[in-house]
Amino acid sequence: MSKKKVDQVDPQSLFQQFSPTLYFESCKASSKDQYFIVGEQAVPVARDAYWDTIRRWTLEPQLVIPPIEKAEINSTIQTDLDSHSEDSQEPIETIVRELIPKRKTKDAILKERVEYFENDSADVWLNPKMKNIDREARVVYTPLIEEGASVPFYYPKVKAYSFVYDAGTDEEFGAEKGTLRLEIIPCEPSEVAVSDTKMRYALKAILHKLFKWCIQTRLGYTKKAQHDVLVSKEKYQLMYQHIKSKYGPELVANWTEKTDPKKFVYEDLAIASYLLCLWKDEEVKTKRKQTFVDLGCGNGLLTFLLTSEGYEGYGIDIADRKIWPALCKDNKDMLRVEALYPAQISYPNTEWLIGNHADELVPWIPIIASKSGENSKFMVIPCCFYGLDGTRSLSLPESETLGKYRAYTNYIKEIASSVGYNCEEDYLRIPSTKNIAIIGRLKQANNQNNKLNKSIQVASQSFIPRKTDREKEEERQEFLKRPKLEK
Ligand SMILES: C[S@@+](CC[C@H](N)C(=O)[O-])C[C@H]1O[C@@H](n2cnc3c(N)ncnc32)[C@H](O)[C@@H]1O
Repeated sequence: MSKKKVDQVDPQSLFQQFSPTLYFESCKASSKDQYFIVGEQAVPVARDAYWDTIRRWTLEPQLVIPPIEKAEINSTIQTDLDSHSEDSQEPIETIVRELIPKRKTKDAILKERVEYFENDSADVWLNPKMKNIDREARVVYTPLIEEGASVPFYYPKVKAYSFVYDAGTDEEFGAEKGTLRLEIIPCEPSEVAVSDTKMRYALKAILHKLFKWCIQTRLGYTKKAQHDVLVSKEKYQLMYQHIKSKYGPELVANWTEKTDPKKFVYEDLAIASYLLCLWKDEEVKTKRKQTFVDLGCGNGLLTFLLTSEGYEGYGIDIADRKIWPALCKDNKDMLRVEALYPAQISYPNTEWLIGNHADELVPWIPIIASKSGENSKFMVIPCCFYGLDGTRSLSLPESETLGKYRAYTNYIKEIASSVGYNCEEDYLRIPSTKNIAIIGRLKQANNQNNKLNKSIQVASQSFIPRKTDREKEEERQEFLKRPKLEK
């Protein structure tokens, strides 16, 4: 079942909605420390249109700042939120770029930091009753200049400025409705007004530009994020509410990991809800209760939820977690430590192989499922861009319209297809931006891809399981013990 949703609104009526509230005389304090709101405007788009616009502007600032010729990207750092999400103030991505002006002899190059922030707590998105919580996506631009130096003429005279997309508190996840805000940190904390007319004009113009670009991005989507493709929204929401109230509060209260329980518990409740709905439909077809193995299960929560709901299965990870004994209290064998060599394993008596953000195991899971037999199916939610060799040196095609994550999910689908799966996909209702579930449950006549099959063979020789933190620490201790000359 695949549906193509066509935007049926009158585009002109969307653009005509621009009528911002401006706070030039006295800027309004923002919810973020040190920031002041200079203008805000309701915008008829979901936040994916905002992010697509912002990401494009990061690569091509000349679209926004006319005196700029181009940007040179110095570095891009993505925060691995799966492994350290204790500080939700951390940006999800930080880019350092240089703005190269058109008039090279007259205007200075400016180095600038661009940071992306996103509220990542699943409960914020999934609980419609939850009020007064920011559902904001934010980009912050900070000029990297020496103390006392001034920014070039083409740049706003501020310490930092920020575009915010706020989805409000009572909208469903993904609704095409939000508020755009332009915020600044003034050069002096006492300067909470914008008095300069040129600056007022420029700030209003940039807010207008963002508004227009977001709408154009929305209208330009030929195929939108497809939620609820394999599982209906109503069924999913009922299941989510049910298992959330059954397990959520106790799991959050007894969380012993260093990570943020709000993120992990509610995200896994959402993924478990989706799988439970999918499996119920599957059982009607197969007349068999579904079974599973969760590869790279991490804290084991997803495995715990699925087994607690009556499904036979277990989770495997190279390293155990502090919370495992509590989760395994009534099912000792449910979480297992094992370093997986994916080219050597198969699970013949298992219906489903799951890989939720399972890093380097993700590209291998369709291959393992295919080796496991006729009834083997898989669901992966890809995250970091690991190749079959277990490293992150994969080179992925990236274009304006095709983000890197989409390019990576296409790569995983290509592998799955080469080993005989006809893939389906669904955008999960989770706040993580890595939210595409690829599902392999339909087999096709083997679609031989010789190049890919060759790389599977080569990679199977080179894949080495990662070192655990414990092993790394042991190696460090060994190294410290060595005499100085050997080091
Ligand atoms: C990003 S974590 C995700 C954990 C979990 N699925 C979740 O969503 O919370 C990836 C996990 O894969 C495990 N892993 C990676 N390579 C592995 C291997 N070769 N054998 C076993 N586990 C592995 C890591 O130890 C880590 O716990």
